[in-house]
Formats: sequence, structure tokens, C-alpha cells
Amino acid sequence: MQVYKSIETWRKARQQLSSGPLGFVPTMGALHAGHMKLVERSIQENKHTLVSIFINPTQFDNNADLQHYPKTLDADIKLLEEAGVHTLIMPNASEIYADDYRFILRENALSKQLCGQHRPGHFDGVLTVVLKLFNLVQPNKAYFGKKDFQQYLLIKDMAEALFLDIEIIGCETVRAKDGLALSSRNTKLSIAERQKASLLYERLRASKPIDDIAGALEKDGFKIDYVEEHADRRFAAVWLGDVRLIDNVEKHSV
Ligand code: PAJ
Repeated sequence: MQVYKSIETWRKARQQLSSGPLGFVPTMGALHAGHMKLVERSIQENKHTLVSIFINPTQFDNNADLQHYPKTLDADIKLLEEAGVHTLIMPNASEIYADDYRFILRENALSKQLCGQHRPGHFDGVLTVVLKLFNLVQPNKAYFGKKDFQQYLLIKDMAEALFLDIEIIGCETVRAKDGLALSSRNTKLSIAERQKASLLYERLRASKPIDDIAGALEKDGFKIDYVEEHADRRFAAVWLGDVRLIDNVEKHSV
């Protein structure tokens, strides 16, 4: 696997890359089986697969959360190498934001709902960095998890609105045996919190009105940001201690 930390070096290598479809999986590292599912799909569908690891400062709500974001770089590289990834880019923030975040991509509708309502500016940070990464990588296809369904939709809509010639592919949520959606942040849960965390998925799947589900989660001891239904999906963001968990399910699977 080729590893690039410098944007300039990577851009030169990109020009030299032989033709054939390039699949891209953007991540913030601390990789788990959820990320690797996207990677495997990209490897199946493309001649080249490129993964980025970049902990994007502009999408964090506060500095403490950014500082405490899990980092497992050695293990990440091993996983990517074993999976057969061709290229890893790990740009640094000063190069990605050489403009000092003067240029921000803002969406004015969906990004204000659900997670966006509770994390103002979060999706501006996500969309801005993903557009920058798309321009650097120039992929044919890019892979996103439906665990972050709102993020996936926003990126899909962005690609369409800005006429990006990139196919945005959504991949199903990978879960632990007890149903909890895999997330880099799960490692921050205490043993007791981890046991309780699986109730989120269980409650969301119950064939009950959405308000009853919110009530049940509150009784379980989750602090609720939102529990809502939109079109054919149910979405929730809840807290267990300092850890924020999000999940969503299709209503007809309920
Ligand atoms: P990160 O949280 O590292 O996730 C990278 C990709 O993996 C996202 O598309 C996410 O939806 C997907 N993913 C995470 N957990 C998953 C699971 N359990 N099942 C399936 N897919 C899963 O999302 C981000 O990083 C950032 O916002 C990023 C897009 C990289 C922009 O900074």
C-alpha cells in the first residue's frame, strides 16, 4: 500500500495513476468492521481503492471531542494492507485548510435538521472536507455508510447539485452481535454503558409509535437529542454518559 501524507506528492501520483475506476472511502481512522465493509465493496467494484484518514477539525463541536477522538493508526494501516487497499492518504489539517476555512460549503435545508439541529455547523464541516477530498482524489465512486444516513444523503445531494462526476454509494450499517451499530466512539463506553447501548437499536425496531420509543429510551437512561421519523426511516441520537450514539432503521423492517 502506498501511503501519502503530503498533498503535493499525492497529486503528482494521481496524475500518474493508470486508468481504470478509482473507488474512494473517506474516514477519520480508528477503523472497524463498518469501515472495512465499505473498503471491501470498493475493492470488489474498482481497479484502485483509495482510503483517506483525516480527523476533520471543522466537523467537531468542541475541542475536547476533537482531542479525544480515538486514534489507532498502526492497526488501521495493518487492516487496510490486509484488505488489499492500494493507496492511503493522510493529509494534515494545515494543508487541507490552507485557506484557514475561508471557503465553506453550506447546505440550507437537510443539514439543519436531526444531527444538524444539535450540532450547528457540523455538516458544513463534513461537506467542505468531502468536497476538498473529492477534488484531491478524483474518484469514480465514493462509499459511505448508512449508519450516518443524513451524511450519506447530504453528500449524494451535494454531488448532484454541484455536477460532480462521482457515483455516491451507500452501504448498509454493520452491527455488533447485539445490534449496536459499530462506531469508533463505542470504545469510549464503559462496560455498563456498552451493555445498555444495544437497547437503542432494539427500541428503534419496536412496532410502537415513535413517541413511545423516545419514552422507553429515556426510561432506559439515555439522554435524548432526537428520536424522529422521516419518510420511511426512524432516526435517533442519544447520549450515554459522554458518548453520543446515532442510529437509524428502515420503517418497513420494523
Ligand atoms: P467516519 O466516522 O470515520 O466514517 C467513515 C465512513 O464509515 C462513513 O461513511 C461512515 O458512515 C462509515 N461507517 C462508520 N460506521 C459504520 C457502520 N457501523 N456500518 C457502515 N458504515 C459505517 O463519517 C466520517 O468518518 C466523516 O464524517 C467523513 C465522511 C470521513 C468526513 O470527515
